[in-house]
Amino acid sequence: IRRTKIVDLFKDPQFGSVIDVKGWVRTIRGNKYVNFIHLNDGSTIHNLQIVADVQKFGEDFFKPVTTGSCIHVTGTLVESQGKGQSAEIQADSIEIYGTADPETYPLQKKGHSLEFLREIAYLRPRTNTFGAIFRIRHHMAYAIHKYFNDKGFFYFHTPIVTASDAEGAGSMFQVTTLDFNNVPRTEGGQVDYSQDFFGRQTNLTVSGQLEGELGAMALGAIYTFGPTFRAENSNTPRHLAEFWMIEPEVAFYDIHDNMDLAEDFLKYLIRYALEHCKDDIAFLNEMFDRELIERLNFVTANDFVRLTYTEGVEILEKSGHKFEFPVYWGADLQSEHERYLVEKHFKRPVILTDYPKEIKSFYMKQNEDGKTVRGMDVLFPKIGEIIGGSEREADYEKLINRTKELNMHTDPIWWYLETRKFGTAPHAGFGLGFERLILFITGMANIRDVIPFPRTPNNAEF
Ligand code: 4AD
Ligand code: MG
Repeated sequence: IRRTKIVDLFKDPQFGSVIDVKGWVRTIRGNKYVNFIHLNDGSTIHNLQIVADVQKFGEDFFKPVTTGSCIHVTGTLVESQGKGQSAEIQADSIEIYGTADPETYPLQKKGHSLEFLREIAYLRPRTNTFGAIFRIRHHMAYAIHKYFNDKGFFYFHTPIVTASDAEGAGSMFQVTTLDFNNVPRTEGGQVDYSQDFFGRQTNLTVSGQLEGELGAMALGAIYTFGPTFRAENSNTPRHLAEFWMIEPEVAFYDIHDNMDLAEDFLKYLIRYALEHCKDDIAFLNEMFDRELIERLNFVTANDFVRLTYTEGVEILEKSGHKFEFPVYWGADLQSEHERYLVEKHFKRPVILTDYPKEIKSFYMKQNEDGKTVRGMDVLFPKIGEIIGGSEREADYEKLINRTKELNMHTDPIWWYLETRKFGTAPHAGFGLGFERLILFITGMANIRDVIPFPRTPNNAEF
């Protein structure tokens, strides 16, 4: 007999057949005659009920079958008498793979707070909530590849170790060589972090964009999808030190094509989630955020508002709303400003364009006014910025002049600058923060809860 996954068993129950299921015990309850075990195998949010005759197995048999233990059950699939479940198993035999001592196993039947679960990130995938979130995360990763593949984009792999600072932001993690068993020490006995990457100073990438642009200048339309790193010490519910980013880059696109792509892409992903993650989203809607499904449907059904940064700032200035951070032309918008535009003013997603060049990266295409650049941020309810992108400066002279104005150290990106000398072309692209997307789709409030092992200033152990 082959093992059946619980998700398949509920999809197409073959009543009367003898099957094998394997999974972790969520709860066990019963009486002298019969025990009811709720089993989960991770394939679905739904538990399978196992009905076991106490006399047949003997009372002692069930002592080690506690919450968290892992068992293998063989039995007959029957229609369930209890309400809420369609099928259950009458156990013929139960094999215990592994016990979980109730005295020390941290996950018990009662609900745990998200804060507590963050402290035991190594076990939380076994809860209903995190099972749902990580299944959704998987489906979204798959949908991203499917979307771009269907559109003829090529998945282009960009390096994680690099010598450049793609955003010109300067907050990067340095790469050092360390032999774990023979850590180099300074004379004072401290760990010596000065070791470098085979004689070069390198860092973990903040973005695959610059290399992605090289891909677009050859393959036409590419996307990256990989981990990126930011060393900014920001302890917020929306920032991670290690996050995943999706960065499409397209030759011959202008900023309007770029906005169309971003809007279509986001709507596709949300629709995909609503269609393929129904049970998990329904569970999260019920547990954490009663407006989740409504919000997801709303975003797919309505056009995003498009306006310039200058228009956005005017609206904020005239709003009369008291913001923590002041708003004026030239200010970098904070999440409170972004969310005001989206949630209070327009009540739908907003794409802001044409930002002051001082608050955006060196590579963005400069407008005729000499003051603004063709950057675009997509702002979402509950999230703020979910996408950042731009049309790129394709003119060699203009790009070089901008790096000079900014006093940039351009040696590490000479290869990038050269693309503007050899067959340069108009092009554009953007970066979607994968965890911000998952935050939006799950309705969770803290970015630490949408990645299995979050990396933040306080979190690097597991
Ligand atoms: O706006 P950012 O910094 O843009 C770039 O990196 C460009 N190179 C993208 C491009 O044009 N190809 O980052 C893009 C997105 C943000 O909109 C946000 O969703 C996410 O990445 N992001 C973060 N997510 C989690 N933690 C952080 N510390 C993040 N920083 C940015
Ligand atoms: Mg940004």
